[in-house]
Amino acid sequence: MSTHDNLLRVGMVGYAFMGAAHSQAWRTVNRVYDLPARVRMALICGRDGGKVAEAADRLGWEGHTTDWRRLVESDEIDVVDICTPGDSHCEIAIAALAAGKHVLCEKPLANTVAEAREMAAAAARARTAGVRAMCGFNYRRVPAVTMMRQLVADGRLGEIRHVRAVYLQDWIVDPQFPLVWRLQKDKAGSGALGDIGAHIIDLTQYVTGQLITGVSAATETFVKERPLPAGSSGLAAQADGNGRAMGQVTVDDAAVFVARLDGGALATYEASRFATGRKNALRVEINGSLGSVVFDLERLNELEFYDATRPAAEQGFTRILVTEAEHPYMSAWWPPGHIIGYEHSFTHEMRDFVEAVATGTDPTPSFADALQVQLVLDAVVRSAELAAWTEVEPTLAELAA
Ligand SMILES: NC(=O)c1ccc[n+]([C@@H]2O[C@H](COP(=O)([O-])OP(=O)(O)OC[C@H]3O[C@@H](n4cnc5c(N)ncnc54)[C@H](O)[C@@H]3O)[C@@H](O)[C@H]2O)c1
Repeated sequence: MSTHDNLLRVGMVGYAFMGAAHSQAWRTVNRVYDLPARVRMALICGRDGGKVAEAADRLGWEGHTTDWRRLVESDEIDVVDICTPGDSHCEIAIAALAAGKHVLCEKPLANTVAEAREMAAAAARARTAGVRAMCGFNYRRVPAVTMMRQLVADGRLGEIRHVRAVYLQDWIVDPQFPLVWRLQKDKAGSGALGDIGAHIIDLTQYVTGQLITGVSAATETFVKERPLPAGSSGLAAQADGNGRAMGQVTVDDAAVFVARLDGGALATYEASRFATGRKNALRVEINGSLGSVVFDLERLNELEFYDATRPAAEQGFTRILVTEAEHPYMSAWWPPGHIIGYEHSFTHEMRDFVEAVATGTDPTPSFADALQVQLVLDAVVRSAELAAWTEVEPTLAELAA
């Protein structure tokens, strides 16, 4: 923390989708929660001077820069928040940790296992000096998801037998949709797998408390070439019939896999950007020996719970509206029944991060936790390539949080 008492001066890199979501959370967090530290939105970084100045003004940041190294090294910054595509996470995070800055990094942690290992090692080193690092798997902080975990931890589902998780979108069904960074392996690491598959991997492991040990996967790239985005120079491009420059899609459009979890559960996962009609459909169902629980992001204030210990005549899925003050994160928001939305998960993320930094405890998911997700992603890619059952490499014990 800064020499100014209980003040955390945040510097954020990237100001588009996640930059906006994180900004709204940084703006909100001290107004909603009573926290041991106060956040100051000190500096924002982007590559275009004019655009980052406009973003600073619009999103509520005091200063702006086009040089992330300046931000990371500044004595006026305590926390570095990384909201850039995966190709820059490793370099920025390691530089920030080396400069003694606490780091919040968007998911997936990195583009490769090697980078994720370096980042987890850097976080472990920094931790010995009281520097904290966390990866932004925000869906853990949707109150209904946190409650799912509590139900499992309290034994209300008994022994977990099945995990069924999908994360479905349809934004690239049109083959004329351009080759944006998310469709380029050097920028994004992988496609639907790392972008949205990573979320359901983290979420299900978090909720069940079990880790994926092995997978059998298939991936597909349905549209292999796409028009380059306007303004691309397109060195590797060729023209299509309409004279538009085209480029190779180098990531998966969809990934499906079955998995075994270390507590004995069997699981299925599906991540796709070709699920026509599905916009952001994250759905998870868990079946245990004593009950089942279902979460659907499109109804994120609700949980469906089946309690098999109830008398037979009363059994059935119960819809729980997760808006009571007793529910996770909810006491600071509105009266019961006054629902919350997507953006609140980020406010909850910042709340937990600020609290951990201010009290000198480790926030979760740690970089080591996020490295483990990266190892699962890597096992899925290898399994799909080999068309074979593939074990997930264990995370080194010394890095475990
Ligand atoms: N938690 C979630 O639910 C969630 C949702 C979407 C994206 N993400 C993750 O957030 C990250 C960013 O995704 P996004 O959707 O916000 O992308 P985006 O394209 O909307 O924004 C990326 C931002 O990074 C900036 N940028 C890129 N390279 C930079 C560099 N070298 N230096 C400074 N700025 C740079 C861009 O100018 C832009 O402002 C990715 O890791 C992505 O996987 C997480």
